[in-house]
Amino acid sequence: MPGANLEFELEMPAKPKYVGLARLLAGSVARRMSFSEENIDDLKLAISEMCTNAIIHTGNGEIYRPPIIVHYIAGDDFLTVWVKDQGPGFDPSCLIEERKELLTKGFGIPLIKSLVDIFECDSRPESGTLVSITKYRRQGDRES
Ligand SMILES: Nc1ncnc2c1ncn2[C@@H]1O[C@H](COP(=O)(O)OP(=O)(O)OP(=O)(O)O)[C@@H](O)[C@H]1O
Ligand SMILES: [Mg+2]
Repeated sequence: MPGANLEFELEMPAKPKYVGLARLLAGSVARRMSFSEENIDDLKLAISEMCTNAIIHTGNGEIYRPPIIVHYIAGDDFLTVWVKDQGPGFDPSCLIEERKELLTKGFGIPLIKSLVDIFECDSRPESGTLVSITKYRRQGDRES
């Protein structure tokens, strides 16, 4: 990707115990890039929600659950992370609609959107889902 200083990925089993590793990697990279601790927390929370969705929707109770890819792209002033699963996919246009009724589910994606600068979702039924977020380092983030 143009402008990337560091690009790598984690292929992880679709199990909750690996979410911490995906968060840790993002936090370490963002800290080395001098993101503020508050923005690092936002990134880690967004990645938790992305990975949780990917895990929940992978495998659907089957014994073989294809792995999840977490891809990291660090530029001079941005960190992009995308999470790709091989689950059933869904129609992201359903997310645009604002619902009026009180919900007990469906908070994850609005939360992710509120924490990052760019949110993209590419998902089609039967072809899995790729959710990408980008967060920019602000002027005030530099702590050194
Ligand atoms: N990776 C994915 N694969 C398939 N469907 C997904 C995926 N991510 C999100 N969705 C769909 O989008 C909906 C909204 O996701 P969101 O994270 O906002 O809420 P939720 O996971 O249902 O509940 P919550 O995150 O509040 O526990 C999900 O219910 C699901 O239908
Ligand atoms: Mg969710």
